[in-house]
Amino acid sequence: MATWDLRDTQHHLLICNGGSCTQAGAEQLVQAVRTEIGKKGLDDRIHTSRTLCNGRCQDKCVLISYPDGYWYKEMTSEDVPEFIESLITGELMEEKLSLSFNGNGFQPTKGTFIGLEKERETVEKVSKKL
Ligand code: FES
Repeated sequence: MATWDLRDTQHHLLICNGGSCTQAGAEQLVQAVRTEIGKKGLDDRIHTSRTLCNGRCQDKCVLISYPDGYWYKEMTSEDVPEFIESLITGELMEEKLSLSFNGNGFQPTKGTFIGLEKERETVEKVSKKL
């Protein structure tokens, strides 16, 4: 258990550890990300969290970066050094980018599976129950 001081944190990485991503190597990805952050002395700038399924299983392994609002797909532990470097330089790792936030929603990059449309009626029913 920990309660970290996040005042200097610039990137929060959500690393999917749902079933599909785990089968595709999410545990190795988590370890590689945390090792690289440690090696580069970036613990105060980059915070990581494991998550359950993020609803984009086709993109496994999924990694999300906030507050910049980028979703990455097909991430492997081999991608990690370049990915962490991209956070430092601000140059996007475009070949792994799947979705980016444009102020209104998350827009898929070219070649990214758009996904199933959510049924608004169902979403509204659930919202009313909450
Ligand atoms: S298990 Fe990672 S998006 Fe579903």
